[in-house]
Amino acid sequence: MNYSIGFDVYGTLVDPVDMGQHLENLIGDKASEFGQLWHDKKVEYAFRRGLMQQYVDFTVCTHQALQYCLNVYQLSLSSTEQQQLMARFAELSAFDDVIPGLMALSTQGHQLAAFSNGPEGSVRKLMNNAQVLQHLHHVISVDDLHTYKPNPDVYQYLMRRMHADMNSCMMVSSNPWDVIGAKSAGLQAVWVKRSQSKIFDPWEIQPDLIVSDLCELAAALKR
Ligand code: LAC
Repeated sequence: MNYSIGFDVYGTLVDPVDMGQHLENLIGDKASEFGQLWHDKKVEYAFRRGLMQQYVDFTVCTHQALQYCLNVYQLSLSSTEQQQLMARFAELSAFDDVIPGLMALSTQGHQLAAFSNGPEGSVRKLMNNAQVLQHLHHVISVDDLHTYKPNPDVYQYLMRRMHADMNSCMMVSSNPWDVIGAKSAGLQAVWVKRSQSKIFDPWEIQPDLIVSDLCELAAALKR
């Protein structure tokens, strides 16, 4: 079976928490805590914006989440410094398994898309810098609909854009809320459990498949 596969970007193809050196310069040994809070807050802002129907693009959620984290850690950065930090989001690297995994999946005949809350232009730039863009057939953003995952409309949109149906459209994400959102909208959904310590939400909706990385996904779909 050939699938049309939408890959979540932040956390699945690239690691948003790993702003490494940039955050370490800012906040020393609290860098990874700060990175996690920044990520979680930006996702929360997108959820809330979606529910309130007060859409702003994901870059605004990211920037406002940064300002929140600076307040929590009682740090002050000039707006130029904040913009410099934001710009680093275009330079995140792909997880090691991403390029070989996408190459194997493409060889097997699957259609591959980055499918993100991020605006298309930002996602393209990020994917290009991470050398991933050439391994994807499409870059699709929820920005076209002015709402956010996990609104079922965005998963239906992925399906439409990929000319796929519910049986052949698959969402692949490391974010449990994204997997649950896609399954709830009727798609197939795979959870990429990128670390053993990650826990899936104990809901009545569970993933169709759990893999530890994209190479394992390619091996599973080959069978
Ligand atoms: C994405 C983030 C939220 O949609 O993971 O790419």
